[in-house]
Amino acid sequence: MDEHQSILVTGAAGQLGAVGRTVTGLLLERGLPVRAMVHREDDRAAALRVAGAEVVVGDLLEPADVYRVVSGCRRVYFGMSVSARYLEATVTMAAVAREVGVNALVNMSQMTVSQMTIQNTTPSLQQRQHWLSEQTLAWSGLPVVTIRPTVFLEGFFLPLTAPSVRDRDHIELPFGKGKTSPVATADVARVVAAVLAEPTPHLGRIYELTGPQSQDMDAVAREYSAALNREVTYSDISAEDWERELKKAGLPEHLIRHLVTMAELNRAGRYDRMSNGVERLTGRKAMSIREFVSLHADEFGGRRS
Ligand SMILES: NC(=O)c1ccc[n+]([C@@H]2O[C@H](COP(=O)([O-])OP(=O)(O)OC[C@H]3O[C@@H](n4cnc5c(N)ncnc54)[C@H](OP(=O)(O)O)[C@@H]3O)[C@@H](O)[C@H]2O)c1
Repeated sequence: MDEHQSILVTGAAGQLGAVGRTVTGLLLERGLPVRAMVHREDDRAAALRVAGAEVVVGDLLEPADVYRVVSGCRRVYFGMSVSARYLEATVTMAAVAREVGVNALVNMSQMTVSQMTIQNTTPSLQQRQHWLSEQTLAWSGLPVVTIRPTVFLEGFFLPLTAPSVRDRDHIELPFGKGKTSPVATADVARVVAAVLAEPTPHLGRIYELTGPQSQDMDAVAREYSAALNREVTYSDISAEDWERELKKAGLPEHLIRHLVTMAELNRAGRYDRMSNGVERLTGRKAMSIREFVSLHADEFGGRRS
């Protein structure tokens, strides 16, 4: 399938989870030409250029920009950071992809969409927009591959638990006794890269992605303890206190509503999910929490010798 045309990767500079940035690296490693779309010209864009990508700057909310960056590409990874205007970006991408004639559009979604219906949505506008985005892409008739990961280790557990683990050996989240099976974006990116490298067998499919185990937060804390060789414990804090902390940290309201909904769903057992998607698509087991924390030990305050 169009071996010599560049593969477009949006959201390629990377921020929280950095799926796009990792996908770019993996495709380049495979010797495939990549057009990496970034939001702005900065050090991250320069690093992508050094790695060998064709870097293009543009706004996914500007139809003319999207047309410019998609033109000439037949395979596209579409993902961007959590945004109140996510649906608009998806619809713009769909309109352009139809016009330009894309052969494979790999769409980043969320696993919560698997539990959503017209009658049963969630209070997170981000999750609703992913649900609507999937609907829109289905109506578009485009050759779509849908990626539905559960919560990210890099994009959630690293930024939201590292400070308290570093300072107080404590994971503080309003997750109650609910189980969770977070997935590494490194693994999500490996799945996306595998699909983009050879999309034909995957067209029309939906891939749910989780880590290798679903466990409650006390068990998660034990994974941290084993990785860091010091006792880490879990405190089930109140949702109100957590929301106050998120506000104090200056996070946007849209993201706070999304995070608070994630916590509510986690508490209700809705993140108790398992899928073998990562292993099935890449031939390698998904990374465990213990492996992830070991890999990022310094950010969690270091491993005791
Ligand atoms: N975090 C989780 O636990 C989780 C779980 C499942 C699914 N997801 C989904 O994963 C996606 C996020 O993936 P990620 O964490 O890999 O993303 P990310 O690294 O946080 O963001 C990717 C890039 O999107 C760019 N971007 C934002 N607005 C843009 C615009 N208008 N035009 C062009 N680029 C724009 C950002 O550029 P700048 O940095 O320059 O602003 C950023 O570098 C979302 O769809 C989210 O719903 C997340």
